[in-house]
Amino acid sequence: MGQIYKKLTDCYDSIKDRIPFAPKVALVLGSGLGNYADSIDVKAEIEYSDIKDFPVSTVPGHAGKFIFGYVGSVPVVCMKGRVHYYEGYPVTDVVLPTRLMKLMGAEILFLTNASGGINASFGAGDFMLITDHISCFAPNPLIGQNIDELGVRFPDMSTVYDKELQEKIRKAASDNEIALKEGIYAQLTGPSFESPAEIRMLRSLGVDAVGMSTVVEAIAANHMGMRICGISCVANLAAGMVEHPLTHDEVQEAANKAAPLFQKLITESIISF
Ligand code: HPA
Repeated sequence: MGQIYKKLTDCYDSIKDRIPFAPKVALVLGSGLGNYADSIDVKAEIEYSDIKDFPVSTVPGHAGKFIFGYVGSVPVVCMKGRVHYYEGYPVTDVVLPTRLMKLMGAEILFLTNASGGINASFGAGDFMLITDHISCFAPNPLIGQNIDELGVRFPDMSTVYDKELQEKIRKAASDNEIALKEGIYAQLTGPSFESPAEIRMLRSLGVDAVGMSTVVEAIAANHMGMRICGISCVANLAAGMVEHPLTHDEVQEAANKAAPLFQKLITESIISF
């Protein structure tokens, strides 16, 4: 057994007695959504710091735990806080929580994040359904010996974001009169925001929103055969599209402001899965 898979199964073995049910949906809570679990019927929590060798986020507002609860009648495990590649963890550690949630039984991975909008028709506070991604600016989490127990060496990436889940999210948004944009998300490593020239490059590649997370998790989940969906909250217009410099505080503030509506969109979507 390879080291990365052993670390994963050790993590799983160390918490398996504390997992209250097999979740259907694994929900990764991005910036601003940290309080989402307050609105669900919580059954159990596991602090990341209780899990041996588990990567713990160093970003303010990202401190972490798994929260198990029901959204309507759907059993869900939420990740309150995620680790980012820019924190210095190997990318295999960044995707370890995603892999762990699959071992817990999750079939669907629901990714959320905050991003910078590149599409000129986007504004701060918009939600974007992720229809595809560009991964080639962040290291691929599958590099290294393939973990045959999880998936194949050369996974197909033709449809990473499940079409049926996308349709359900579109319907949940329109039924609840929540405006929903769509587009391509690119993950760069961060932690610096992009330069205006990088934003022009990304726009020319067809990118609609850019951030520092999500794609590596989607690749790992796709490898394991999970059904994946994602929504990005456009927290700001990207570098060079506005006069003022970008700050983490601006991102956090915009994400916090959009959070109540974002939470509603997530809840209504999950209920319909
Ligand atoms: N760039 C990258 N990541 C981000 C941004 C951005 O402008 N906003 C929120 N996350």
